[in-house]
Amino acid sequence: MKILILPDPAAAVARCVEIIAQTLTDNPQTVLGLATGGTMEPVYERLVERARAGEIALDEMTSFNLDEYVGLPPEHPQSYHTYMAERLFGPLGLDPARTHLPRGDAEDPAAEAARYDAAIAQAGGIDLQLLGIGGNGHIGFNEPSSSLASPTRVKTLTLATREANARFFGPDETVPRFAITMGIATILRSRHAVLLATGAKKAAAVAAMAEGPLSARCPASALQMHPRATIVLDTEAAADLELRQYYETVHPKGQEVPLG
Ligand code: PGA
Repeated sequence: MKILILPDPAAAVARCVEIIAQTLTDNPQTVLGLATGGTMEPVYERLVERARAGEIALDEMTSFNLDEYVGLPPEHPQSYHTYMAERLFGPLGLDPARTHLPRGDAEDPAAEAARYDAAIAQAGGIDLQLLGIGGNGHIGFNEPSSSLASPTRVKTLTLATREANARFFGPDETVPRFAITMGIATILRSRHAVLLATGAKKAAAVAAMAEGPLSARCPASALQMHPRATIVLDTEAAADLELRQYYETVHPKGQEVPLG
């Protein structure tokens, strides 16, 4: 794992955007795996700004989002289809044929999950998978106890996740109980996994992911098995890392240092 510790959340977001931008510059037809949640909002703001400034182009990329709530149609205000349409796809006028999310309203969610993995494979696999992390260590909606070899499938959300995401729903709405999520095996097949975490609420999960045992108790710990995982943190999210000083020596302020 490459662990990059930036001085504050804005710097962590900027570093993450830089990694995505470089990938798009190297290959405009990149297949991106995208994530939702509060942490990703400033990432998409910056990507839109940079695309509008002509610094990067996203119109030739293909994307696959991590997950979608079961039961929500794409036009539902709290669906991840809507989240992505409002924050990235709409503002940049991207071709919907290139942007994929699981259909939460599919008649047969299990079949939809299998179709989704097949569609990712058909597209050549994911080049860069963007990830957040839940306070309970989930990636995508792979909650604790998820098989570390899981394909895309339907998962039951934990109460902690439903409570954490209640802020996105109205007072009279309930957070769905199920989601279709890329599996851990799906995520591990990506050629580069980039996880962004900011804030003290993520510190324990980040430490368990990077320094704890490889365990379904913390599904993000599966990234220890990823050949190329980059973890981008602010100092608060990095606070519980025992080997923090080492990571800061290897990558001072989260930057690359030439060898030699
Ligand atoms: P957050 O969610 O960015 O809203 O904290 C991250 C996640 O649950 O994966």
